[in-house]
Amino acid sequence: MALIELQGVARRYEVGGGVVTALREVDLEVEAGEFVVVLGPSGCGKTTLLNLIGALDVPTSGEIRINGQSLAGASRSDLFTFRRRSVSFVFQTFNLFPTLTALENVEFGVDVAGSDRSAADVLAEVGLGDRLHHFPSQLSGGEQHRVAIARALATGNPILLADEPTGELDFTTGVQILELLHAHSHAGMTVVVVTHNREIARVADRVIELSSGRVVGDGPPEGGQRAIADLRW
Ligand SMILES: Nc1ncnc2c1ncn2[C@@H]1O[C@H](COP(=O)(O)OP(=O)(O)OP(=O)(O)O)[C@@H](O)[C@H]1O
Ligand SMILES: [Mg+2]
Repeated sequence: MALIELQGVARRYEVGGGVVTALREVDLEVEAGEFVVVLGPSGCGKTTLLNLIGALDVPTSGEIRINGQSLAGASRSDLFTFRRRSVSFVFQTFNLFPTLTALENVEFGVDVAGSDRSAADVLAEVGLGDRLHHFPSQLSGGEQHRVAIARALATGNPILLADEPTGELDFTTGVQILELLHAHSHAGMTVVVVTHNREIARVADRVIELSSGRVVGDGPPEGGQRAIADLRW
């Protein structure tokens, strides 16, 4: 049984009298410990897919199962526990608390998940050991992004959903973050990373390609998997 299973999942949004189909008939299975990249152009449904897997949104049709359990069939309290203890998010827009420092933002993640990890240590791992007491407004975009990554990693939750985690980062820092995510997946964390960058996708075990809300590719990276050290983008 796969850890994450999607069967015939569609998500339609109604806006201003029109309908936008963000995802259509998506079938997908992700095994525990996989490092999966979701690749595709802007607007193809990547964020929508992450939100559905993380139970932040519900499909219009189809079914999502985590560890064999249907999200649609889960009670409110099961969903509450799932969001706190099983899944962690790196949002495309970071979603940091503006009134909390970097350290406090990460400690929030630790507290919510009941993790035993040290927020300061994880911030040091993402290269922000000297920015602990800065508020988000006192950090660069890439630094804010890394705080969001640290917050997700510090939860120790088994599923990490990361939306464009290298988007704001320069090459060297991006590589550092990919290495960190890889190390976590080797330690058993299931990592689903969204990107629109084909070069970044090449470090994954598996690339799921979306186009206009459909899965149009699913397999090892085109041209073979590449070591992070050999990446260029
Ligand atoms: N809440 C919403 N209401 C209406 N339409 C939405 C909503 N969220 C997303 N959409 C639409 O659904 C489609 C998929 O959006 P989504 O955010 O999943 O794309 P994406 O692949 O993450 O794009 P990007 O690379 O730009 O982040 C887009 O056409 C978008 O306009
Ligand atoms: Mg997106």
